[in-house]
Amino acid sequence: MKPGILVSRHVFPEAIDILQPVAEIHYHDSSTGLSAEDLQAAVVGKEAVVCQLTDKIDAAFMDSGSDLKVISNVAVGFDNIDIPAANERGIVVTNTPGVLTDTTADLAFTLMVSAARRISEADRFLRAGRWEQWEIDMMTGHDIHGHTLGIFGLGRIGQGMARRAGGFDMRVIYHDAMRATPEQEAEWGVENVDRDTLFRESDFLSIHVPLNDATRHAVGKDEFALMKPNAVLVNTSRGPVVDEKALADALEQGQIASAGLDVFEEEPIVEPRLLALENIVLVPHIGSASIKTRTRMCTMAAENAAAVLTGQRPPNPVNPEVL
Ligand code: GLV
Repeated sequence: MKPGILVSRHVFPEAIDILQPVAEIHYHDSSTGLSAEDLQAAVVGKEAVVCQLTDKIDAAFMDSGSDLKVISNVAVGFDNIDIPAANERGIVVTNTPGVLTDTTADLAFTLMVSAARRISEADRFLRAGRWEQWEIDMMTGHDIHGHTLGIFGLGRIGQGMARRAGGFDMRVIYHDAMRATPEQEAEWGVENVDRDTLFRESDFLSIHVPLNDATRHAVGKDEFALMKPNAVLVNTSRGPVVDEKALADALEQGQIASAGLDVFEEEPIVEPRLLALENIVLVPHIGSASIKTRTRMCTMAAENAAAVLTGQRPPNPVNPEVL
């Protein structure tokens, strides 16, 4: 008998094609995720799960799925999964790194340009029939070229931002818990700075750190106090890295100029004060949402799960110590 796998919500069909030959698939083929209770019921007797960032994969879930060998997340981030609990139970967790780097960096750069040049605000203005004449100071925003991009977290996506900034004649500074080598800094055209300098000197600050205890609310009141009044904040990493209430204060008080957010503290809920502001571009967690990239993320997750189920090493373990 083939091992059982739970696919927790709708995926691109190519993923199912990969899983079909190796597993008995329990497919919750819906755009709505399962509740914690239903997830626990659905994982009973399964050896694998293909899950998404909306699924909270905690110790209770793992105990319901007492046969679980692999938890395969269709995302690069894995803050929805309790990794220590998986380690204790010897369950391998996998993710989908690399494939979404450029797609997400494209969106981060787009948010940066949109916020600086007031694209969504201008679109709303025009559609509302408020455009009566050309005016010298109408919808004037901030230049990108010649300005400083600060990258908070120089992982793959942060590096992707640095590459894009090169094409826009920007100076690029960064801060990361792990400093790049001098050779990498020279190759990528980035300057290392301390944390406060990053916030003080950036005209554009783009966040690319993972969410963990050290980065939760890493950008809040104290950081906004350091930032320039013309600064634009961009977040495509995880919502809770930014204190949304402090961001609303900073935008309302003109402490920073504008922001572009793809991720939120309590998705899909958005802080109402942010919704009320003109100087922010808001999109619904679509950083990696190109057809090609989302398809590849699904097939990668299926390949990771299929590898474990057939006794092979998965290509993308996040806790390889359990293998
Ligand atoms: C998306 O947010 C991801 O982590 O892949």
